[in-house]
Amino acid sequence: MEPEAQLASFFASAERLIADSGPTPDAFGRVGSLLRPLALNLGLIDDNKLAALHRSDAGFTILGQGPTGSTLMLGRFPPDTPTPVHNHNSWAVICVMQGRDRHIQWAREDGGSVPGRARIRAIDSRELGPGDIAWLPPPPGDIHSQQGIDQAAWELVYFGRDPTRAPRLYFDPDRGLVEERSPV
Ligand SMILES: [Fe+2]
Repeated sequence: MEPEAQLASFFASAERLIADSGPTPDAFGRVGSLLRPLALNLGLIDDNKLAALHRSDAGFTILGQGPTGSTLMLGRFPPDTPTPVHNHNSWAVICVMQGRDRHIQWAREDGGSVPGRARIRAIDSRELGPGDIAWLPPPPGDIHSQQGIDQAAWELVYFGRDPTRAPRLYFDPDRGLVEERSPV
């Protein structure tokens, strides 16, 4: 199947799954099973997109969008420093393509009533390799950080909605701070 047809088929199946079951762990696991063959088919990724990402430390590029706006991104996470702790205003399903990724999920423990302040705690840390799946629950559970292990980790990340459309929250767990910033 041509890459474009493969992506179109993925979007149709994944959107139907979530529409039928809701954003549940069971549905995310099944979406992950649809994502895995795409992640392990490196021919799917346009060389130009890979080259653009290779020139930056960390980056994302949108690979495509489904009929109702779900969005598939290619991400690269270098080993040097972790991403800031951040959210995406969406659930997401992740599948590693290449390399290994330290993926940490965080939970917010304050009520958000004090502007600029946030208390968060790491609740899960796992190491993901090629073909491994993880997911971010719907907001406010979509707080996470990532870092390649020894080398850059390349991943497909499938979001329920385009995460570049709304400002993200960036957290500083040590200082108890949170800041809203444009995602691009
Ligand atoms: Fe992220």
